[in-house]
Amino acid sequence: MTYSLKDKDVLIVGGGSDIAAALAADLLQEGARVTLAGRDAGRTAAAAKAVGDTVRAIALDLSDKESIRAAADQAGTADGLDHLVSVATERASGPVSSLDRRALLAAFDAKAVGPIMLAKHFAPLIAKGGSLLFFSGLGAWRPAPGGVATAATNGSVTTLVSALAVELAPTRVNAISPG
Ligand SMILES: NC(=O)c1ccc[n+]([C@@H]2O[C@H](COP(=O)([O-])OP(=O)(O)OC[C@H]3O[C@@H](n4cnc5c(N)ncnc54)[C@H](OP(=O)(O)O)[C@@H]3O)[C@@H](O)[C@H]2O)c1
Repeated sequence: MTYSLKDKDVLIVGGGSDIAAALAADLLQEGARVTLAGRDAGRTAAAAKAVGDTVRAIALDLSDKESIRAAADQAGTADGLDHLVSVATERASGPVSSLDRRALLAAFDAKAVGPIMLAKHFAPLIAKGGSLLFFSGLGAWRPAPGGVATAATNGSVTTLVSALAVELAPTRVNAISPG
């Protein structure tokens, strides 16, 4: 079975990343309508423009629940949404003896709390056949010394998608693990 992305609305959170740009370019080629969401308005707008003139940019900070709610309100008043992807990550690497609580919380905001808040506010907007997609990473399964935060945050992604998938079905919820 083939699935066409033509005229599908896709929102990519963490829009300033290279993976987001590559994904957005592929989606455009497939005929999707793409919006990049990022916490820095100027950087996100520049990233959107670099991918293509039709790519929209909106503000969204995963550590700020009002920002997530406002972005969902914006998406809800547009054409709705077919697919939401979050590639966001905030790295807090280093030996456990050096880990800083604030950096850890920011990392969990990007990979665990933020995605759950995205599900809370965006799942009701997802059209039939749509999906939520989050990014994990190989560090969850093959941690190296200094990789406690990377392992914990990426591991959270893989477990939270399983729980969201059974709760939000038939909306699909998945994780990709690069690396
Ligand atoms: N690259 C790899 O080899 C690799 C390997 C394993 C897993 N992964 C996973 O793949 C994904 C993409 O990787 P990448 O290397 O392209 O990432 P990246 O270049 O580090 O970009 C991460 C993006 O997340 C955004 N972000 C961080 N905190 C945020 C927040 N609170 N709200 C909104 N956006 C936030 C950053 O925004 P700003 O632009 O504002 O900083 C940045 O645009 C990540 O989840 C990563 O863990 C990548």
